[in-house]
Amino acid sequence: MLKLQDVFKTYEGKAEVTALSGINLTIGAGEMVAIMGPSGSGKSTLLNLMGGLDVPTSGQVMVGGKDLAKESEKGRSLFRRSKVSYIFQAYHLMPTLRVSQNVALPLHLAGVPAGEIAQKVARVLREVGLDGRTNHLPDELSGGERQRVAIARALVTDAPLLLADEPTGNLDTARGEEILSLLRSIHRERGTTIVMITHDHHAASACERLIRLRDGKVEDDGAVAGGGR
Ligand SMILES: Nc1ncnc2c1ncn2[C@@H]1O[C@H](COP(=O)(O)OP(=O)(O)OP(=O)(O)O)[C@@H](O)[C@H]1O
Ligand SMILES: [Mg+2]
Repeated sequence: MLKLQDVFKTYEGKAEVTALSGINLTIGAGEMVAIMGPSGSGKSTLLNLMGGLDVPTSGQVMVGGKDLAKESEKGRSLFRRSKVSYIFQAYHLMPTLRVSQNVALPLHLAGVPAGEIAQKVARVLREVGLDGRTNHLPDELSGGERQRVAIARALVTDAPLLLADEPTGNLDTARGEEILSLLRSIHRERGTTIVMITHDHHAASACERLIRLRDGKVEDDGAVAGGGR
């Protein structure tokens, strides 16, 4: 599903930052993987490359047999729309759209018929426990609720690859646990490949494999003991 080879990412600017320096990774279809590592170790940068949001300075990012590093902006945008869903660290909700409209957005972009959209949106909002907030604007929600809207928007499209940047970072233990079991059931039932960044060992133990980053390199990569609960 995903294969990264000799991936380097340097951000140009006043001070040049090498965020990734020589990443080699293969993630198979249907895996559920956690990524951990200190702040600034390159986790979000890595996820952005996997999702085609950015391109590496050098190296290959193969997703489903295509090298995203070689794709045009248009090719990557098509990939993002059809093959991947993304839960951002900073949510990225549309401030002028209501909860249900935010969640419906990727389906509208994909040209799904209105009746089907309404049904799917209602179902996924129920799953994340937000059916009482469908007409709120993002500003009128708590941080944890906004995070759940972002999760609902990612789940609504049934994409084969789900990338999540700290999906439970702003949730209390009980809510976080609900979201983790939701992600696990999607992984199990739909075979969705999930790559999830987390700072939380408990969240990581919902996954079967844990990759640790340090200073832009893979420090450790292996099975989670007792993982995939
Ligand atoms: N757009 C950018 N321009 C310049 N430098 C950047 C940019 N984005 C990230 N960096 C730098 O690259 C390094 C890796 O950043 P990244 O966001 O991948 O870290 P992270 O592991 O996700 O950290 P956190 O746990 O705090 O979210 C950091 O040193 C950061 O300052
Ligand atoms: Mg980050």
